[in-house]
Amino acid sequence: MQIPRLHPDTIEEVKLRADIVDVVSEYVVLRKRGKDFVGLCPFHDEKSPSFTVSQTKQMYYCFGCQAGGNAIKFVMELGKRSFADVVLDLARRYQVPVQTLLPEQRQELQRQLSLREQLYEVLATSAQFYQHALRQSQGQKALQYLQSNRQLKEETIQQFGLGYAPAGWETLYRYLVEDKHYPAEILEKAGLIKPRKEGGGYYDVFRDRLMIPIRDVQGRVIAFGGRTLTDEQPKYLNSPETELFSKGKTLFALDQAKGGISQLDQAVVVEGYFDAIALHAAGINNAVASLGTALSLEQVRLILRYTESKQLVLNFDADKAGTNAAERAIGEIAELAYKGEVQLKVLNLPDGKDADEYLHKRSPEDYGELLKNAPLWLDWQIQQIIQDRDLRQATDFQQVTQQIVKLLKNIANSDTRNYYVSYCAEILSLGDTRLIPLRVENLLTQIAPPPATYSKPVSVRKAWGGSKSPLPSTDAINPVSPNSVQTRLIASLPTERSLLEHAEALLLRIYLHCPEQRQAIIDELEERDLQFSLSHHRFLWQQILEISSVDGETINLASQSDLISRLQDQFLEFGSEMGLISHLFHVDEKNQKEILRTPQVVQAAIACMDLVMLEKRYRHFLELWQQTDPEAEPERYQSYYQAFYAEKIKLQKIDRQRLFSITELL
Ligand code: UTP
Ligand code: MN
Repeated sequence: MQIPRLHPDTIEEVKLRADIVDVVSEYVVLRKRGKDFVGLCPFHDEKSPSFTVSQTKQMYYCFGCQAGGNAIKFVMELGKRSFADVVLDLARRYQVPVQTLLPEQRQELQRQLSLREQLYEVLATSAQFYQHALRQSQGQKALQYLQSNRQLKEETIQQFGLGYAPAGWETLYRYLVEDKHYPAEILEKAGLIKPRKEGGGYYDVFRDRLMIPIRDVQGRVIAFGGRTLTDEQPKYLNSPETELFSKGKTLFALDQAKGGISQLDQAVVVEGYFDAIALHAAGINNAVASLGTALSLEQVRLILRYTESKQLVLNFDADKAGTNAAERAIGEIAELAYKGEVQLKVLNLPDGKDADEYLHKRSPEDYGELLKNAPLWLDWQIQQIIQDRDLRQATDFQQVTQQIVKLLKNIANSDTRNYYVSYCAEILSLGDTRLIPLRVENLLTQIAPPPATYSKPVSVRKAWGGSKSPLPSTDAINPVSPNSVQTRLIASLPTERSLLEHAEALLLRIYLHCPEQRQAIIDELEERDLQFSLSHHRFLWQQILEISSVDGETINLASQSDLISRLQDQFLEFGSEMGLISHLFHVDEKNQKEILRTPQVVQAAIACMDLVMLEKRYRHFLELWQQTDPEAEPERYQSYYQAFYAEKIKLQKIDRQRLFSITELL
């Protein structure tokens, strides 16, 4: 649309009505400081707020980058938009009638603006009509319901503008169309009436229902939720999607809650209209309701605008449906949560199904206490995963492990991820602290991303030569949960994996059966900072080290003649791990040959493990590098780059030939 020349009066009016704090708040989280507001400057990168907004002066100014101006300038600069474009947009938002200098352009603009304006108006009038009806004799039982069943005070009923839609088929229609002369077409577009299927005319959508106005952020009525007072279905009837109302983009009570949310720096999301109303009535005024749909990413972003530290608490119903809704909501915003862009908590109430019921039994302070102690979403999810499971059962154990791995895999922050890995390892160890390191290892190897997710490394690999490198794939360093290793090995036996398995097994077997090699093996491993990649091998190695040191002092390893029998005693306790390593305690003909060829075999095995470790570190840093935003964190980006590059160089230097001496042994 060509932008017409605007009348100076319109520009003045926009400046008057478009409050700077309101306008800026759409893009910047502002906090009150003294008589001004401060926030992070959207025009330059900063960590502490130097961007100020003065409501009295209707100006913004950044002490960091010297950007400044009025509301119109702010939107222009931010969106790189023209003056007229911004003024028109603000005029639309703040309902300023637009006057242009050309009459025909003016008409066209008015036509566009007027539909929305008429909708707002008819909805506001309807809300008044319903409120009025609540106070008439016909609304008696609805009012009673609010007062006794819901225990709402007059003040709350007024605050939320609750009303009653009379029982007739066309009460609202007659009032608005016949008395007030609104066009029926506008009522229909507002979702208030529907055309009759036969015989022409219209009927009211809401009949004999308790009416709850749904408002936009600015407090304008855009839709209604109507609750039945009988057993009629549906329990809640909501306005259809209209020009003004979109369920997935609206949050009930946000207009009432936005102040509380920014004040408390936290938002509570409940499921039901009455949950939100009850919370506000109890003085917990940072609550919004999700309108019974799955909470969308868009809704979450809308709420987060008002909190600085992005704290969101989901308080969904304590029943199965509520849990599912919470799971769905988490799924919807997982991306934000994993990145730490929302501090998400989940609150399950102990007494009663939802916040409304809870507050009938307990005090607002009790609720506040629960809110404070609500678990972080990851803790909640872990709880959901292990609930009703018997970790002593192999299938449960395996399924739980898989689900946990899936959950932890996506945590972007490595500190957080490590924390949860050890937390889960503890759970999976069932109180046996000796098992924790093994579980940690298991989880860590499993959450290393599978090769398929690497899209970029291909080009990086190409860049340093070789189309198919002989390096073991990540599969080789991947998971071996005690229960699954056998099936994995049978299902597909990747050579690289078996290569590593073989190298590690060899080393362990030599350690066990050739006492004179023990010190050399330990030295080699220590010098290169090598670890066993397969968890059952790690486990065995850990046991060996434990037996081999007395009060922290390493004893003469070569003279430790009873090592195998002591290990076997130890393993009687760990049945499941035992199956995978018991073969190492025995020497057959083929092993005998290998053992005779030590120390070349030791060298080859070490080289193989070395390669795997390097590759693992290389992938790790490469992945971190890929996940880092160069613009947001240039230093980190650079350091990850250097780290993976260094590993790459080491990898290139390794004499790959040494690897093949192992292959011969396979
Ligand atoms: P609930 O059935 O949990 O509502 O649905 P509630 O608030 O606990 O019900 P009462 O009034 O206390 O018995 C939660 C929300 O889901 C939407 C509404 O927004 C409701 O508040 N919903 C529910 C509907 O839109 N339609 C329905 O039929 C039911
Ligand atoms: Mn409910």
